[in-house]
Amino acid sequence: MVDYPSLIAEAEALVAGVPHLIANLANLSALIYDTLPDLNWAGFYLLESETLVLGPFQGKPACIEIPVARGVCGAAVREDRAQLVRDVHAFAGHIACDSASRSELVIPMHQNGKVVAVLDLDSPSLARFSEADRDGLEALVRAAEPHLFG
Ligand code: SME
Repeated sequence: MVDYPSLIAEAEALVAGVPHLIANLANLSALIYDTLPDLNWAGFYLLESETLVLGPFQGKPACIEIPVARGVCGAAVREDRAQLVRDVHAFAGHIACDSASRSELVIPMHQNGKVVAVLDLDSPSLARFSEADRDGLEALVRAAEPHLFG
């Protein structure tokens, strides 16, 4: 089990006072990828109009553009709600950037109450992510948001 309070404290310490969005997202993706076991991708997509555009990440090269109408990431934006997908093959509209991915967790990120990005985690294991992971990563995102987007 990941020690989320420690991870959140580390994440906040990394980004607090650093006025560089790309650098902060790069460091957060590295921290998360390095800390959570059994991931094959961890990173960010940034919302530009109706399209999510690939941001800093760790893992294999990934899809560059995701229309908000599509994918697990698009659903997180449309519903403004975390998406915990135990089996990506059972999720209609899932976009397979890496065929090894079997489960996924996507957390929307906000600026002034509006979704501006998502944190996306993929795992090669079925049902890798629990409600505790979702809650822990949502708390991490809530803690980091003011430092990232002001
Ligand atoms: N699977 C995502 C696409 C992004 S990759 O997982 C990095 C989706 O369905 O939105």
